[in-house]
Amino acid sequence: MEELELRREMVAACRRMNDIGLNQGTSGNVSARCGDRILVTPTSLPYDEMQPEDIVAMDADGHFEGQRKPSSEWRFHHDILSNRRDVNAVLHCHSTHAAAMACHQLDINSFHYMVAVAGGTNIRCAPYATFGTQALSDSALKALEGRKACLLGQHGQIALGSTLKQALALAIEVETLAKMYIIARQMGEPPVLSEEEMGRVMNQMNQMHYGVTRSPS
Ligand code: 13P
Repeated sequence: MEELELRREMVAACRRMNDIGLNQGTSGNVSARCGDRILVTPTSLPYDEMQPEDIVAMDADGHFEGQRKPSSEWRFHHDILSNRRDVNAVLHCHSTHAAAMACHQLDINSFHYMVAVAGGTNIRCAPYATFGTQALSDSALKALEGRKACLLGQHGQIALGSTLKQALALAIEVETLAKMYIIARQMGEPPVLSEEEMGRVMNQMNQMHYGVTRSPS
């Protein structure tokens, strides 16, 4: 994809996550791989004002170019895209139910089979670390091992994808699962599906290319 097209897609993804209520205000941020550089949203700029030229370009060493300052979370965007060659896009948001679970430092366990769309038997919650720090990036990277999504303690969630559309679709799925889990828990702790069953689910998803591959409507 051409760089300008990618920048436009990033702005559109940011606006979309606020329009559908997945995020609010200037919270959240987005990045995408662009050749051997990383494009990342600028810090603290309202999404309805953001233009493609406001997106900041970063090289492999974390040096920036552009008129704007990069997102305060550029470290985890840089570290995820440098360490995960299976991923081309990273989306972070403060979706309400995912953040509510993260405030209790709870993983999303295998209470529902769709948890497997994030790549495993649970969606881990990374321990809390101050926003914008290397400690938060390290914590997130660990929680994302073998996964395409995680919660961030007392903060929000991160979703990864081969494309930005996939990352957004997965973030919507994570938020939906967190909402379901919170509702299910009101009737008592829901039972979990066994490791064996989750293994079957993951095989089935792989065979059918099932899961978060479509664009969110
Ligand atoms: P930025 O505006 O710096 O991207 O910060 C938003 C945020 O969600 C921090 O975690």
